[in-house]
Amino acid sequence: MAQTWTPNSWRQKPIQQVPDYPDLAALETVEARLAKYPPLVFAGEARRLKSALANVAEGRGFLLQGGDCAESFAEHGADTIRDFFRAFLQMAVVLTFGAQQPVVKVGRIAGQFAKPRSSGVEKQGDVTLPSYRGDIINGIEFTEEARVPNPERQIMAYRQSAATLNLLRAFAMGGYANLENVHQWMLGFVKDSPQAERYRKLADRISETMDFMKAIGITAENHPSLRETDFFTSHEALLLGYEQALTRVDSTSGDWYATSGHMIWIGDRTRQPDHAHVEYCRGIKNPLGLKCGPSLTADGLLELIDILNPANEAGRLTLICRFGHDNVAEHLPRLIRAVEREGKKVVWSCDPMHGNTITLNNYKTRPFERILSEVESFFQIHRAEGTHPGGIHIEMTGNDVTECTGGARALSGDDLADRYHTHCDPRLNADQALELAFLLAERMKGGRDEKRMVVNG
Ligand code: PEP
Ligand code: CO
Repeated sequence: MAQTWTPNSWRQKPIQQVPDYPDLAALETVEARLAKYPPLVFAGEARRLKSALANVAEGRGFLLQGGDCAESFAEHGADTIRDFFRAFLQMAVVLTFGAQQPVVKVGRIAGQFAKPRSSGVEKQGDVTLPSYRGDIINGIEFTEEARVPNPERQIMAYRQSAATLNLLRAFAMGGYANLENVHQWMLGFVKDSPQAERYRKLADRISETMDFMKAIGITAENHPSLRETDFFTSHEALLLGYEQALTRVDSTSGDWYATSGHMIWIGDRTRQPDHAHVEYCRGIKNPLGLKCGPSLTADGLLELIDILNPANEAGRLTLICRFGHDNVAEHLPRLIRAVEREGKKVVWSCDPMHGNTITLNNYKTRPFERILSEVESFFQIHRAEGTHPGGIHIEMTGNDVTECTGGARALSGDDLADRYHTHCDPRLNADQALELAFLLAERMKGGRDEKRMVVNG
């Protein structure tokens, strides 16, 4: 029998990945302040995302989820947000065209600050300091002072999230996302890349279609869906004190919602069924993500599904699979079969980033060909099992960084030093992200043709 849930019932459970705040009174004061601040998102928006994801779970749509591994205070600015949004829109348009299905757009943004770490300490030479845990907790500089968790950072993260969300809402609803601008979304540095020509051709076809529709009276002025887009936010709900402070009752339904972002997910390191992170997430009504890594057993997954989605509601739960390119064939089929056998409704999404991290020239990097390979396997396995490959979860930026090797420009290990800016894991740059989108579009088109053959066959 499930125990009563409250926004703070997680505090009675064992917990992993907690920062060591030296001043607990200061932490409490910050949490009390945050609890009075306005919500960042509204319950109705989270419900709209859930119903879009329910369509994906039923095989009618595709989830595109992406953004920074860790947002940083230093990179916060209008240009970074705009360039991310542009790169993301380009991916979305390529996917929509390929899949001929709605693409549900969810950023890892406006709240993606707290990071789980595989070790609590970092060693450089003979100096050992507490690990960096994300700007919402401590500083990235390798000094004793910076690494002390400081609760005031939660207020800064909240304010940055609010400002970021404000600009994203303006971009999504205020005309920037208008399909008439499809040519303008090309970023400067992508313009001379091998992806540019492919994108231009696709944009030309969209413009041509828009011209035709305009001729018969369907315009961006009279059809909001041509000039606006739904864009949602998401992050890992790791720092539970912060999450609790932003957990609010929705006055229309009486249900509890996390108002720190539309969708939140549970990381691969904090998914123990009897621990704090699962406890917190089970009680809020937002759509949830669950990271599934190689150590997750089929029974373990079913137990988590029962806790997190007892009513088997489509759209509530997205399984974000991150096995690694050489592990996916071993692990994904057994999880799919268990979920299918029990008739559980989930969105299957592929995170081809977190199982493919290697160290090269002292940089954490991800070879683009391994990322593609995991995505390819994910699609093939779903086709073979007769299930819907419903989404992709990536770490990406609109900036021209050199963090992942490979791609059409063939970034090498020696290039990594040029523009390696991430605060945590290596991200795809806009060029690589677009290349991935084209590959995905081809795979989805392949799936469509196959289905048609079955129907007509
Ligand atoms: C992440 O998404 O940045 C992350 C830490 O993922 P995972 O929990 O899958 O390792
Ligand atoms: Co990451």
